[in-house]
Amino acid sequence: MNALAINGGPMTINPTEDRYIWPRITQEMRDIAISQMEESLSIYDRSGIFKEFEEKFANYHGMPYALLSNSGTSAISSMFEGIGLCPGDEVICPAYTFFATVSPVMHTGAIPVLCDCDESGNIDPLEIERKITTRTKAVIVTHMWGIPCDMRTISNICKDKGVYLFEDCSHAHGASFAEQKVGSFGDASAWSLQGQKIVTGGEGGIMLIRNRDIHIRALLQGHYNRRCKQEIPKDHELYRYALTGLGLKFRAHPIAIAIASHQFNQLDDWIAQKQQFVDEITASLKRYPFLKMPSCENRQASWYALTMQFLPELANGVTINQFEKALHAEGLIEVDHPGSTGPIHNLALFTNPERVLSRLYHKPIKQHGSFDQAIAFYEQAIKMPVWAFADERPIVEAYIRGLAKVCDAVMQRPDSINSISVRK
Ligand SMILES: Cc1ncc(COP(=O)(O)O)c(C=O)c1O
Repeated sequence: MNALAINGGPMTINPTEDRYIWPRITQEMRDIAISQMEESLSIYDRSGIFKEFEEKFANYHGMPYALLSNSGTSAISSMFEGIGLCPGDEVICPAYTFFATVSPVMHTGAIPVLCDCDESGNIDPLEIERKITTRTKAVIVTHMWGIPCDMRTISNICKDKGVYLFEDCSHAHGASFAEQKVGSFGDASAWSLQGQKIVTGGEGGIMLIRNRDIHIRALLQGHYNRRCKQEIPKDHELYRYALTGLGLKFRAHPIAIAIASHQFNQLDDWIAQKQQFVDEITASLKRYPFLKMPSCENRQASWYALTMQFLPELANGVTINQFEKALHAEGLIEVDHPGSTGPIHNLALFTNPERVLSRLYHKPIKQHGSFDQAIAFYEQAIKMPVWAFADERPIVEAYIRGLAKVCDAVMQRPDSINSISVRK
């Protein structure tokens, strides 16, 4: 067995060459961006590439209304505005997510009620049920890292309790639960189209909506004038706000959407390729008991990332930081510990909104219950990208070799790793 690179052995990978490049910029993408620039740089209504992409996206999910926006965050905000969320209302939210799933709630004065995750990292349906009260207006879930939540149980709970169900699908473009696409279970769903996302335009967002009234309020929130006039029926009681909307502008950029639309056409092929690579990676790692792979029963994940759990009690004294450092020394620099996506229950925006949003909040928010599972999932998470193109197989195979090299050392020569000093 070769010595680990961290102990002076050869590196497995050349980290400047064997990278994860996303999105892949092709000549076709350049041409699409230029022709969109020549056609239109600003679209005021539902026409051109906006109409084309919204129709395609809505049909793919079997949802009646679609609305593009300038970010995933604004799309999430429009779900809450869509139901007219008010101060004093409660929204059940995941404690383990990217904070933008929840931060738009803070502009409504409503209280986010955080729920711990289960061992999959996704919001625990039992916790949702436990935390619903008469003040609960909605539940929002995030399909973390592209693995769908248990949508059958969650949608049954929401129907039973009479609360809205929203999905943050920003990690989960094209994923499905029990053969049904995520984003088609609830009353509305949002996707980020930001640069790292599976379908991306650089920046952007899109929401799908089941109900006409939510759609109208979402239009009014961020798409004033022409689009509101075009889509809100003239006899609707809110039509008189069509010119000004509610005062904000969330309109998307046409070049971003032209790029995202082109990307979306390849989504199913990418997921199929990612699944094949994930199968190979997980098959090669299943002999290491200290790495727990995600479970995808009854689900097709989108593989925004492959997020494993590093179980320290089975790692012969090696810590997650030492493991990560040894992988990086091998050149596997795409493997990391997720940073800004983690437990949100201690973030100041959610605990002390009264300091910065005093017009809406007059006192700190106290969260109840424990978030132990979210903390543990976060602390033990090791993530790596999943490549989407068949011609990237050599990189994937090199990653498999590098992972196996370090994992073998954890099993057979743990002293070669657990003596490494780490700063964290
Ligand atoms: C789960 C999740 N929700 C929401 C967002 C926000 O999307 P955007 O950056 O497009 O506003 C992100 C972005 O990373 C995300 O990962």
